[in-house]
Amino acid sequence: MTLVPETVAAWQRIRTGRTPVAAPAAASHAAYFLELLDGRAPSPDVARVLDVALTLHADHELNASTFATRVAVATLADLHAAVVAAIATLKGPRHGGANEDVLAMLLEIGDPARAEGYVEARLGSRAGLSKHERGDPRARVPGFGHRVYRVDDARARVLRGMAKSMAEATGRQKLFEVAERVYDAMRARTTLPVNVDFFSAVVYDALGIPPDFCTSIFAVGRVAGWCAHALEQFADNRLIRPRADYVGAAPRPLPADQGRRTETSMASSSKS
Ligand SMILES: CC(C)(COP(=O)(O)OP(=O)(O)OC[C@H]1O[C@@H](n2cnc3c(N)ncnc32)[C@H](O)[C@@H]1OP(=O)(O)O)[C@@H](O)C(=O)NCCC(=O)NCCS
Repeated sequence: MTLVPETVAAWQRIRTGRTPVAAPAAASHAAYFLELLDGRAPSPDVARVLDVALTLHADHELNASTFATRVAVATLADLHAAVVAAIATLKGPRHGGANEDVLAMLLEIGDPARAEGYVEARLGSRAGLSKHERGDPRARVPGFGHRVYRVDDARARVLRGMAKSMAEATGRQKLFEVAERVYDAMRARTTLPVNVDFFSAVVYDALGIPPDFCTSIFAVGRVAGWCAHALEQFADNRLIRPRADYVGAAPRPLPADQGRRTETSMASSSKS
C-alpha cells in the first residue's frame, strides 16, 4: 500500500529536479506521503487535511477504475496488473482526470469576477454542437455531473469546508472564491450536481499541488479501494464477461466483386 505514494512522490521530486527521499517514520499514511514529497514532516493540520482527502477518495463502490480492477482480477491477472488497469482508467477526464481539469480551469479563471462569464461562455459554446461534440471535455465544466448522483456529492460538502479553511490558512482565498462563484453559476444554469473533484482541487492547490499532479494524488487514496475490491474479487471470483446486443445492420449479401476479392485474399493468405 505504500508503493503507490512512494512512486508518486519520487516521480514528483524527480520531475522537479530533486532526488527522492528515504522512507520516513510518519504517524499516518498522509503524513508519510507529504514527507516523501517535501522532504520534511508536514504540520499536523496539513497532514490531517490530506488524510481526510485521501479517506474521502479511498473507495466509491463500482466507479470506473474500481470496475476495471475487478475485471482485471477476474481474469486472474496479478494485483500489480489490476492496479495498472485501474490507474489507466482513472486517468480519463470523465473520471479522476477531472481533478486536474478543475484546478486548471480555476487557475485559468483566476479572478472571482470572471467566473460567471467563464461558465456562461463554456456552457454557451455547446449550442449548435452535435451530441458527440458535446461529449468533449472542453465543452463541459469539470467537477460537475455524475454517472450515479443527481444531487451534490456528499463528499463535496466536506471538501468544500476543508477548501475554505485551507485557502484561508494559506492565503489562497481567491481561488476558493473563484470556485464558489463557478459553483453558484452552475447552480443557476444547470441541475448538474457538484462532484468530488471540484472542491478537492482547491484543497490540493492549498497544499501546493500543481494541476498535473492532482490525479496522481487521487490514485494515492483510491489504491486502498482498488486493493480491497481486488481481494474481494479474488476471494469469490468468476470471469466478468458482459454480453452485448448487436444493433448493426442485418445480414446482407456481399456485392459479387467484393465477395470474389475476399475469397482471393483468403486464398493468398492461406498460402503464406
Ligand atoms: C461524470 C460524467 C461523465 C457523467 O456523465 P453521464 O451521467 O453519463 O451524463 P452524460 O455524459 O450522458 O451527460 C448528460 C448531459 O449532461 C451534460 N453534462 C454532463 N456533465 C456536464 C458538465 N460537467 N458540464 C456540462 N454539461 C454536462 C452532457 O453534455 C449531456 O448533455 P447533452 O445530452 O445535451 O449532450 C459527466 O457529468 C462529465 O463529463 N462531467 C465532467 C467531468 C467530471 O467532473 N468527471 C468526474 C466525475 S466524478
